Amino acid sequence: MTEMQPARACLAIVLAAGEGTRMKSRQPKVLHQVAGRSLLGHVLSSVAEAGADSVAVVIASERPEVGEAALKLLPTARIATQHERLGTAHATLAAREAIAADHDDILIAFADTPLVRPETFAALRGALAGGAAVAVLGFEARDPTGYGRLVEHDGQLEAIVEHKDATPAQRKIKLCNAGLMALAGEHALSILEAIGDDNAQREFYLTDAVAIARARGLGAVVLKAPESEVQGVNDRAQLAAAEAEFQRRKRHAVMLDGATLIAPETTFFSYDTRIGQDVVIEPNVVFGPGVSVADGAVIHAFSHLEGATIGANANVGPFARLRPGAALAERAKVGNFVELKAAEIGPGAKVNHLTYIGDATVGAGANIGAGTITCNYDGFAKAKTTIGANAFIGSNSSLVAPVTIGEGAYVGSGSVITTDVAPDALALGRGRQVDKQGWAKTFREAAAARKAAKKAAE
Ligand code: UD1
Ligand code: MG
Repeated sequence: MTEMQPARACLAIVLAAGEGTRMKSRQPKVLHQVAGRSLLGHVLSSVAEAGADSVAVVIASERPEVGEAALKLLPTARIATQHERLGTAHATLAAREAIAADHDDILIAFADTPLVRPETFAALRGALAGGAAVAVLGFEARDPTGYGRLVEHDGQLEAIVEHKDATPAQRKIKLCNAGLMALAGEHALSILEAIGDDNAQREFYLTDAVAIARARGLGAVVLKAPESEVQGVNDRAQLAAAEAEFQRRKRHAVMLDGATLIAPETTFFSYDTRIGQDVVIEPNVVFGPGVSVADGAVIHAFSHLEGATIGANANVGPFARLRPGAALAERAKVGNFVELKAAEIGPGAKVNHLTYIGDATVGAGANIGAGTITCNYDGFAKAKTTIGANAFIGSNSSLVAPVTIGEGAYVGSGSVITTDVAPDALALGRGRQVDKQGWAKTFREAAAARKAAKKAAE
């Protein structure tokens, strides 16, 4: 997506210094994943898509790994450290240096609220462009307990009152603060510095920015979002709820883009899954990160794909496992109980049953028989198998890499192939069959006679 507000410089401050103790995890909360990407990664991506040209991530001093993760996701991010947890305004001011630079718009986002869409961040920026000094995101909470309430007067946002500080009348307000906010760059620092901690929690509340701006005669506006978009993650149940919402959205988008999902509620996508037109996805398919499926491909039931590229009109599964580096060209077929890893399957090639192909190239039109295994690993290193176009690998063959099977060559069933096979040759790597005429009959008669003699002797 292109930058939505190209004319205005934008700083995004992502607050990621939360305690996250309710996750009961060794891992920092914001590094837990939704659809294969960390909560932090989702937020960094959304603010970037909304046109943030500079990003500061506020981390807690005891969680340096959050800063490292942020830099991996966005090498230009500035990492600011909050040494004490004294509230959302205090956390924001950890990025004081960035705030003091010249930005038109400042977005403040929470790293534990991963589903806010880029369009929503852009809309907050739009409100600033329209003249507001503060733009907040509100939502109608099913249960408002714990949230800040948006106090309006004559259609103007006057203040945000935290639940713990609210009067009984204010607690009846259903319109709640989602937490994230946009501040006009020219006023941001002075507003943030005016925030005190005279409240029930002795915290520096970012939400006080509204009343301060209003007292100065500046405009404050509320934009509304559905509750599903602003849900935060504090424990594993909420993590699963965020995952479910992400999946709901992605399935819907994939279907509107022209793919058929036969049982959408059983298809699981990653944040970056790309699905073409007229793709059909049967029930119970899981996409890990890094998968793209070209037009007209069919993914049959119970397949698991990760880091895989599926060409146009290719066929996968049922029960296929495609691991990173699996690349199917157009019309390739990969059938049941087949595992591929770092393997290119050429146009129209078939790997239909019970096979492992790893670190390999399979040429166009080749046919890989049932039970074929590439022996690509000797316990220390991986080696490559190359199978030429239109080669035919007989069932239950082991191809001991490194090895090359020439174009159009045949490998006899049950072979163990350890040396290269020339194009159009037949390779047999197995014991020669020996037939002994009448042997079975003679054996049976002798055995039966022995058994009868034993019985008679009893
Ligand atoms: C905040 C809002 C509240 C809103 C709610 C929505 C304030 C004062 N209140 O409340 O109006 O309804 O979010 O979920 O802003 N953080 C830090 N350092 C701190 C404190 C917080 O980095 O010292 C980060 C947290 O990691 C989190 C975010 O800021 O990502 C919000 O903090 P949290 O304590 O969850 O605020 P709430 O009390 O939920
Ligand atoms: Mg919270």
